[in-house]
Amino acid sequence: MQRIYIYKQFERFWHWTQAILVLFLAMTGFEVHDSIHLFGYENAVVYHRIAAWMLLGLIVFSIFWHVTTGEWRQYIPSFSKLSAQIRYYTIGMFKGEAHPTHKTARNKLNPLQAVTYLGFKLVMAPLIVVTGMVYMFYRTIDANDMVVVSEIPLAWIAWLHTFGAYLLMMFVVIHVYMTTTGSTPLSNIKAMLTGYEELEPVDENSIIKNKEAHEA
Ligand code: HEM
Repeated sequence: MQRIYIYKQFERFWHWTQAILVLFLAMTGFEVHDSIHLFGYENAVVYHRIAAWMLLGLIVFSIFWHVTTGEWRQYIPSFSKLSAQIRYYTIGMFKGEAHPTHKTARNKLNPLQAVTYLGFKLVMAPLIVVTGMVYMFYRTIDANDMVVVSEIPLAWIAWLHTFGAYLLMMFVVIHVYMTTTGSTPLSNIKAMLTGYEELEPVDENSIIKNKEAHEA
């Protein structure tokens, strides 16, 4: 085993800030929805809006970071070992079998993670952000008669936004469970805090060549 630097400083900052903001948005959002009572309705509305703007700012920075560092490539799904990965999480892991893929700094997401996080970035996040923005500016949109949007009743927007919130909460629960499936239950969480993880050393070039040969 070797101590390898996997998660860079910005990545760790972005990950934990996003986690805190999403949980806070869920707490305040579900108060607006009248499911829980913590801050009082008026406060919940104000806090939800402030946290939403912070999340939007963070999303802009994280897109910039992913594009400029080339890290967005980590999310390109590879389907060659997807079924092996699903088999591992549903059967192999409980029989003590070895991980079917190797984690490295240049290839840190397994095929199932890559496809799930891509879904998060392309479906869940846009759904909640777009419906949230329409919800926030609904009156302005309505007053300016921006026909396509203003013809959609606010109740539908609220429903879609809440649906997105439920999806996101499901994602969080599964995501937290999956983090416990590393070499020890806390090894992945520790890695996201410190940046370093104990991993089997592998020749990344040989993995990339194998991958290319496999997918050619
Ligand atoms: C950029 C992201 C987001 C924006 C712009 C946004 C915006 C809004 C707005 C404007 C409202 C109506 C309350 C108000 O008048 O302020 C609302 C309600 C709500 N939000 Fe968000 N939100 C975002 C993210 C989230 C997230 C991440 C969650 C949960 C995980 C969430 C859950 C909810 C829920 C459950 C409601 C109540 C819906 C209802 O029943 O009316 N929101 N959001």
